[in-house]
Amino acid sequence: MRVAIVFHSLSGNTRRVAELLAARLAGTVDADLVEVRDRFQYSTLTAYAVGAPRALRGEAAEIEPGAIDVGDDDVVVLGSPVWAFAPTPAANGAVAALRGIDGKEAVVYVTSGGGPGSAAGLLGAALEARGARVRGAVAFDRKDLENEAALGELAALVTRPPSGG
Ligand SMILES: Cc1cc2nc3c(=O)[nH]c(=O)nc-3n(C[C@H](O)[C@H](O)[C@H](O)COP(=O)(O)O)c2cc1C
Repeated sequence: MRVAIVFHSLSGNTRRVAELLAARLAGTVDADLVEVRDRFQYSTLTAYAVGAPRALRGEAAEIEPGAIDVGDDDVVVLGSPVWAFAPTPAANGAVAALRGIDGKEAVVYVTSGGGPGSAAGLLGAALEARGARVRGAVAFDRKDLENEAALGELAALVTRPPSGG
């Protein structure tokens, strides 16, 4: 089973969850970590002043890499920090950059300061608009990234048998 774990992370929390998930899946799943970067280089100040309003508007950023081929993957995991109760512009950019996503099974996770708002739902809806079938979403609090229940739930969503149809 092949899984792409695609994520954006400005301060490392969302990356940390991607790494913990990959470690947990090791042995059963061939997991590939794909970190996307916003071509606009945010500082903490500009993340709040520029990035949060963009996130609120649902904008998709120009990212590196510009295309992410998931055609050979069985499941696509998409992880985003929460900015202004929404996915980051780079995470929206990652959704737009996916190639071969139509008809794929997908799983979403977000990391936040405790107020995730609609971020996971918005990210799932964006994936479904690209033709993915979203199995579910898990929200992590940045103070508890190693939360056993949340990591277990995320891993179970990834390894669950395909829904078919
Ligand atoms: C610009 C900005 C906006 C944020 N907005 C929210 C928010 O609406 N709700 C929340 O709970 N945390 C918010 N946070 C905190 C982040 O979601 C949290 O620290 C997240 O884990 C960061 O992920 P990262 O380390 O992968 O970049 C915000 C952080 C930044 C930088």
